[in-house]
Amino acid sequence: MTVQTTDLTSLERDILAAIAAAEDERTLDDVRVKALGKKGRVSKLMKSLAAMEADERKVMGVKLNGLKTTLSDAIAERQDELHQAALDARLAAEKVDVTLPIRPHAEGRIHPVSQVFDEIITIFADMGFEVKEGPDIEDDFYNFTALNFPPGHPARDIHDTFFFHPDENGERKLLRTHTSPVQIRTMQAEKPPIRIIVPGRTYRCDSDQTHTPMFHQVEGLVIDQETHMGHLKWCLEEFTKAFFEVDDIRFRFRPHFFPFTEPSAEMDIGYTRVGNEIRVGEGDDWLEILGCGMVHPNVLKNVGLDPDVYQGFAFGMGVDRLAMLKYGIPDLRDFFAADMRWLTHYGFAALDMPNLANGLSR
Ligand code: DAH
Repeated sequence: MTVQTTDLTSLERDILAAIAAAEDERTLDDVRVKALGKKGRVSKLMKSLAAMEADERKVMGVKLNGLKTTLSDAIAERQDELHQAALDARLAAEKVDVTLPIRPHAEGRIHPVSQVFDEIITIFADMGFEVKEGPDIEDDFYNFTALNFPPGHPARDIHDTFFFHPDENGERKLLRTHTSPVQIRTMQAEKPPIRIIVPGRTYRCDSDQTHTPMFHQVEGLVIDQETHMGHLKWCLEEFTKAFFEVDDIRFRFRPHFFPFTEPSAEMDIGYTRVGNEIRVGEGDDWLEILGCGMVHPNVLKNVGLDPDVYQGFAFGMGVDRLAMLKYGIPDLRDFFAADMRWLTHYGFAALDMPNLANGLSR
């Protein structure tokens, strides 16, 4: 087989044209394989050298090698161009203008329960209370016995407790039914004077418009040598005024029973209903908002404090109920429905932390 120089020239022109026309690295590689690959057109010509006469092979060998180099160089150059173009395109597409303003409004909202926790903590922190927390999974001692619920006492039943299966010792852990166990944990760990509030989750087997199996409480405890019922009354009156953001509030203490306090009371606040709205602080109707009392001597004894020396008060309030009252939210179950429309309506701006100087909820 003889190869004409003119054939080589037109072959080179064709392939160079194909290289120039390749729009991406893949097409370019196809062109390379068809020319210089094992079965490519140039490689086939190289193979034909073997059958040539020595003189002819000498001339053609040089030409074919020259062609091969020209093509390889052209391919490498085109590859660089394509690579650079692809990079430029990507950089252009992924460009971020860091000087753009941030989104005009944040999407997330603070849940009313979190808001009310923050408000309550703000008020009591201002009075010198410290925040304590305890475990959600408790045992019988902390949830009941140490709080002066004797074994078999009917008050245990009204809590509708969620119990775990008994462990190897036959002991059944439980989901705490109130935040009061943290009173015990704190008095065991610290010496009076004690002045704490305990925000947290609590659990009871109950579900309707105003009850959910998981709900929230804030517990309060003050222990020293002189705190009496008058302090309790003042403290809770100041709290309710600050919480409901009113200058004056009608309230009353109604005798009640709790095993861990003696005497015990429930605090009611006055309200009126105007249409669908509840106005807190005025009017002749009463709403129960919390339980309270002087810490029972047995509770003090259970943590090793001498009731002839130490005394104090405790209280416990339902946070969800306070949130419903303050913000006019009719159904408690919506609190846990994770409905964005509900949260947009009832939620609070993320960066507006409650503070007493500017108003808690503004
Ligand atoms: N633990 C009570 C409950 O869940 C609330 C309570 C009432 C707490 C009176 C107290 C208290 O500390 O003194 O129903």
